Amino acid sequence: MKKLALTLAMILGLGGVTFVQAQDLSCLKCHTSANPLPDKIKKSGAKSAAELVEFLRKKSPKQALHKTVTDEDIKKAFEQFGKK
Ligand code: HEC
Repeated sequence: MKKLALTLAMILGLGGVTFVQAQDLSCLKCHTSANPLPDKIKKSGAKSAAELVEFLRKKSPKQALHKTVTDEDIKKAFEQFGKK
């Protein structure tokens, strides 16, 4: 019985961590449904995570808005929303 409770706690714990990571993408603070990220990524024309980083850092007229986001988060955003 103790073992079962422990297993359950582990599953819930892991699930929680995954959930938090998905929600934690810094982009989503500003990119809500009124400013949807998938749309923006599509319009940027980036075909890879690296291209999206390049675009947001150097080409976008909105690059000043994205100074605080990490390359890591830009890549994650592309993985989640960019491959359609
Ligand atoms: C501080 C708020 C903020 C954060 C954080 C943010 N963005 Fe943005 N982003 C904006 C705003 C505002 C725009 C302009 C929206 C518009 O023009 O309708 C924008 C535009 C964009 C565009 C289109 C740029 C262009 O020139 O066409 C892309 C792509 C984009 N964001 C990706 C991201 C990604 C990926 C992240 C996370 C790594 C992110 N943004 C985080 C505020 C933010």
